[in-house]
Amino acid sequence: MTKPRIRSRSKLSDHDNDRNAHWMPFTSLRDFQKAPRLLTSAQGHYYISEDGRKLYDSFSGLWTSGVGHCHPQIVKAVQEQVAEMDYSIGFQVGHPKAFSLAERLVDMAPDGFSSAFFTNSGSESVDTALKIAIAYHRAKGNAQRTRFVGRARGYHGVNFGGMSVGGIAPNRKVFSPVLLPGVDHLPHTLNLKKNAFSKGLPNWGGHLADELENICALHDGSNIAAVIVEPISGSTGVLPPPIGYLKRLRQICDRHGILLIFDEVITAFGRVGRAFAADRFGVIPDMITTAKGLTNGTIPMGAVLLKEGIYDALMTGPKRTIELFHGYTYSGHPVAAAAALATLDVYETENIFEHSKSLEPIFEEAIHSLSDHPKVLDIRNFGLMGAIELEPRENAPGERGFDVHKKCYWDEDMIVRNGGDILQFSPFLNSRPEDLEMIFERVRKVLDSID
Ligand SMILES: Cc1ncc(COP(=O)(O)O)c(C=O)c1O
Repeated sequence: MTKPRIRSRSKLSDHDNDRNAHWMPFTSLRDFQKAPRLLTSAQGHYYISEDGRKLYDSFSGLWTSGVGHCHPQIVKAVQEQVAEMDYSIGFQVGHPKAFSLAERLVDMAPDGFSSAFFTNSGSESVDTALKIAIAYHRAKGNAQRTRFVGRARGYHGVNFGGMSVGGIAPNRKVFSPVLLPGVDHLPHTLNLKKNAFSKGLPNWGGHLADELENICALHDGSNIAAVIVEPISGSTGVLPPPIGYLKRLRQICDRHGILLIFDEVITAFGRVGRAFAADRFGVIPDMITTAKGLTNGTIPMGAVLLKEGIYDALMTGPKRTIELFHGYTYSGHPVAAAAALATLDVYETENIFEHSKSLEPIFEEAIHSLSDHPKVLDIRNFGLMGAIELEPRENAPGERGFDVHKKCYWDEDMIVRNGGDILQFSPFLNSRPEDLEMIFERVRKVLDSID
């Protein structure tokens, strides 16, 4: 692999052992240690690396920072809030910004949504939604509804609930014996024979939603609490739903009284040209989990948005009791709430969702410009989400993708995320068309230069 042009000044490279005190998330630590990739500042669409280079960010953070890094309005809101009230206890006492934010989110959500439960991450949003599903059914006199249905290749974070309904094999493997019981998985919808190089939603595969009927037949639908899917699977390598698929899931859930949860941690807040993928696809779930774009990635925060009936069902019991024994020390944190309110303002005042939608055809053309490349097996896209699936090297799955990531970093001054041999793209929602073209010109250069 290409060596760093300027050796990192970090202490990391000063010692020979391969141990970092910082156990980085989802990182090949021993490989990282050999040539640490360290970012020290960020502005707009660029990072500055520790060796002083300006790197274009083709992933807008980690699907997080759609309006660019260090947006001045968000930075100002955070600075002011942290000076005014750094923290506020959230149990039995509140602060106004969390209420304003919840109202803003409910207003943005599809009709019938009435409340938001705040978390600190996508993983926490998912586990919160699963717990609320169980509590809801119990409150309605259906305590037997405890089963969940997820989907193969789904990613719902790394906590026990999300891992259990998730379908990413390496994330589950080590923890397999201790995952939640009572979980089934729908098949995923990727089929390269039928759908390779589809642009937007694939034609084939809507019928795969009917597998939910088989799961209902097996366990009886009356035992299932909720089905959770990403409207577009993101982290597994961007799998847009086949035409009609989500509608069919909604219909089957309705038939059996099952709650439908859309995990919109990636797809919410303009990534697909609307506030929520639910709006874009015209399929309305019962709960929506969010995080990432809620604060433009500036401060960790997530929110679960809930339909009115779910909230109402839980407002039972003695008037002075706590209705839901669930919550986090940092639920509705004032600095996160200030960041989120400022982010929502930016989305509105800068017409971000409309701009994102207007970029879709340019992004689609740019990413599919690599369809002729001999190392490319498939290209998928929807909204401003895209993936390029590379042919794996013989006996070395994942290595080619990782090499693209590293070579883009060191030689092309660009952050490209790879999940194994699948390159993933999440460009800024306020990208310029020429940036979108530039991303794939650089990727082509790298693909040409590696084996
Ligand atoms: C759909 C989805 N759900 C949940 C998560 C987990 O979010 P977090 O990493 O903030 O816990 C992610 C993260 O990428 C995600 O894409």
